[in-house]
Amino acid sequence: TKQYEYILTSKPADGVALITLNRPKALNALSSPLFAELNKALVEFDEDDSIGALVITGSDRAFAAGADIKEMRDKTYSEVFKNRFLESWSDLTKIRKPIIAAVSGYALGGGCELALMCDIIVASPTAVFGQPEINLGVIPGGGGTQRLARTIGKSRTMELVLTGRNFSAIEAESWGVVSKVVDEGEGKVVQEAVKMAGLIASKGKVAVQAGKEAVNDAYESSLTEGLKSERRLFHGLFATHDQKEGMGAFAEKRKAKFTHS
Ligand code: CAA
Repeated sequence: TKQYEYILTSKPADGVALITLNRPKALNALSSPLFAELNKALVEFDEDDSIGALVITGSDRAFAAGADIKEMRDKTYSEVFKNRFLESWSDLTKIRKPIIAAVSGYALGGGCELALMCDIIVASPTAVFGQPEINLGVIPGGGGTQRLARTIGKSRTMELVLTGRNFSAIEAESWGVVSKVVDEGEGKVVQEAVKMAGLIASKGKVAVQAGKEAVNDAYESSLTEGLKSERRLFHGLFATHDQKEGMGAFAEKRKAKFTHS
């Protein structure tokens, strides 16, 4: 696989791509060059037919400790406004294949927001989430106020954003921010995320991408529009071979062999 400076990429299991943030000295602070590499790798894997699902992870100590404070420190208003600072971060949400965040250690500020942009979050018991931007004289700028509010409600989001306090993996699980907290152990969270990604990758890709799009519509539209979108996507799947194969296999009591077409 291709070499990057701030990330590592690999294919750890059938159909699974793994992107590891690799700026250990800065606890994976999300500098602009790092995010540019991340976006490039994501697009590459999205276009790679051998891949069905992606995992993004950091180190045991830090998923990512936020946007790069040292890079931001001297920026001016006109600079960040004109250059649409952080806008390219949301390119990640245009990826059609599912992305799982495997979070261990610090997921603070932009690190928390990066995890929230992913489709599923799996966390280690050591994961520490938070939006501490208020302590730096700013507010979250990578979607944290919006995605947290939609996930955990106004009161909790206000508390977190306005006090800047961290929250634990257990809190994140009980609030529905993460889908699963794995057992403790080095590398365990990545193993679990890769396993989950492998299971997703074993399904029909067209249905998986339709499923992702339909769930995302729940966050983008009214209930009526979302239901209409779901039904259209559902109806559309009857034009695929995978629907005939999936339902045929069930009726014939055999395992489905999806061809992603
Ligand atoms: N940006 C730049 N460098 C960072 C960083 C960040 N977000 N987080 C950590 N680092 C660097 C530290 O400066 C330090 O570098 P040096 O060795 O050169 O001094 C190195 O990583 C290790 O960090 P610490 O020595 O601080 O490690 P620690 O274990 O004592 O503390 C920590 C860990 C609590 C996570 C602490 O590093 C910390 O508070 N980091 C900043 C967290 C933060 O405020 N994040 C929000 C950033 S703003 C943002 O993200 C805006 C947005 O919405 C997009």
